[in-house]
Amino acid sequence: MSNLINKAQKTLLGNRRKGYTLPTNNKLYPAQWNWDSAFIALGYSYFNLNYAIKEITTLLDGQWKDGMVPHILFHNPNTNYYPNYTAWNCGNKIRSSGITQPPILATILKLILDKNKISNKQIKEIKKIVKKIIRFHEWFIKFRDPKKTGLVSILHPWESGYDNSPIWDKPMEKVTIEKNLKYKRADNKLIKPDQRPLNIDYDRYVSIKNNLRKNKYNPKEIFKSSLFNVVDVGFNSLFLKANKDLIQISNKFNLETSKISDYVKVTEKNILKLYDKKKGIFFSKDIRNNKKIYIPSITNYFILFADLNNNLINNKLIKNLKNHNKNDKYFFSTIKPSHNSFEENRYWRGPVWINCNWFIYQGLKNKDLKFSNYVKKKTIKLLEKSKFYEYFSCKNGQPMGAKNFSWSASLYLDFKISPN
Ligand code: DGY
Repeated sequence: MSNLINKAQKTLLGNRRKGYTLPTNNKLYPAQWNWDSAFIALGYSYFNLNYAIKEITTLLDGQWKDGMVPHILFHNPNTNYYPNYTAWNCGNKIRSSGITQPPILATILKLILDKNKISNKQIKEIKKIVKKIIRFHEWFIKFRDPKKTGLVSILHPWESGYDNSPIWDKPMEKVTIEKNLKYKRADNKLIKPDQRPLNIDYDRYVSIKNNLRKNKYNPKEIFKSSLFNVVDVGFNSLFLKANKDLIQISNKFNLETSKISDYVKVTEKNILKLYDKKKGIFFSKDIRNNKKIYIPSITNYFILFADLNNNLINNKLIKNLKNHNKNDKYFFSTIKPSHNSFEENRYWRGPVWINCNWFIYQGLKNKDLKFSNYVKKKTIKLLEKSKFYEYFSCKNGQPMGAKNFSWSASLYLDFKISPN
């Protein structure tokens, strides 16, 4: 076994706690995160299928009664993380945050099922998992798209997972910061502040959170009154792909998904309304302020992962993608470096993230095999040089953020081992 494959497995095992795995063991993220856990499960599936299933089961144990799967589960109350469970003050069986994160579980589960021999005992577990994911997706359709547009909203930048992306700059400018706000960040004591979001961003994150809390996280209420409401093309691409995957998995178990199938049809049609034909790019929409958002973010290319049946658009996107940061040594930068919002080192405003590369690699495979292999090769090289950090400079590969980062290790395993 190659050394780094071995190290990737050890990284995951080192971050593992009782039935779930931390995004990193350096105290920055001392809880279970939703989309991190999905990537982590994929990593485990290459050497311990039971751990993979357990990771997902534990995450779904935190599902709310209405169907939402929270973005964080606070299994351990004694940590320094902010905002911790007391600041959120919610949860069902497990203390949690009151918002969600990109729903990629169905996609990850499908990959795991396609690649593995599953025992009868595991099949039973998986059927329960699939039922819960269906409820999760139905929650999105019901509460995050009340007008039935085929596109779902996020109500907090943290729901995207790309927390301080410039995509949110304009909608965030409009968020009024609560008076006399008092809280204490922990993240910028653990990681260099120039690699983390700004204080003014946190003031707004906390103000939005407090407003959700004031409305008791009532899903109908908060859709109307959240200080932040955005339809993001990247997020909707991940949801569209996950819906397609969920239908396929559910068919195997004879589970009913007609609501989801109907929704996919509407999404496929209406997501094209976010396409700017002239520029050949997708934009997002600030629902609260009724504005289009044009930011050259790598997450806009997640649409390739959603497999739109439109070669004209796909080809145009791939052409633009090849220019995204072609003059840099490493790709993909989160933001096109020529854009004025680009910052080489700051979290989601410039650095290379392995999960973004992974979505794009997956999206390219059936459209431009040569380029997809190139993306894979370059990503593996970056990880081999800089190891399993959270994010990396696109200029020189400098590793940044947390070390021993679980999803970087997990996706390294997938890039290296997956047969296709
Ligand atoms: C953090 O704490 O930085 C997380 O990304 C929020 O989910």
